[in-house]
Amino acid sequence: MKDNNKKKLKLKVSAIKDGTVIDHIPTQNLFKVISILGLDKIENQITFGANLESGKLGSKAIIKVSDRFFEDDEINKIALIAPHAKLNIIRDYEVAEKKVVGVPKEITGIVKCFNPKCITNHEKMTTRFRVVATSPIALRCKYCEKHTVGDQIKML
Ligand code: CTP
Ligand code: ZN
Repeated sequence: MKDNNKKKLKLKVSAIKDGTVIDHIPTQNLFKVISILGLDKIENQITFGANLESGKLGSKAIIKVSDRFFEDDEINKIALIAPHAKLNIIRDYEVAEKKVVGVPKEITGIVKCFNPKCITNHEKMTTRFRVVATSPIALRCKYCEKHTVGDQIKML
């Protein structure tokens, strides 16, 4: 197949002029990513695709947000649910920069403490964790000091 045609076949979601393309999101976490980044509360043009073919992931999702550029600590919030996400910063139709998602040092909200006795599971309050390891990810609760690790990590 001609390179040009390959490119067209790949482009399942239209190109954008300026903004951010978040690629390689696990399809099952697409809507969590949208919610964590607050994309459901902004007026920018957003397009997305889900269940797209991806070599590495099997199936992936992609989100394109026009005229929105994220700070690193905003985007790092999705590290727990989309650790292999790739960001492409688009300016005037060209990929101006590529970034990967990093695991943040602290996680506020988003995750539930694994300890059933933890105060955060009984009172209406924001959970807070320190990231103490990355592979697998281990979180230490600021309230009860217990660790929530790997598969124990559940989103609120
Ligand atoms: N993209 C876009 N709008 C543009 C330019 C690029 O939506 N004006 C998207 C492409 O569809 C692609 C991503 O941004 O999903 C990265 O573009 P590019 O680096 O050209 O694609 P690839 O070479 O396939 O990069 P990678 O393998 O990193 O996905
Ligand atoms: Zn706790």
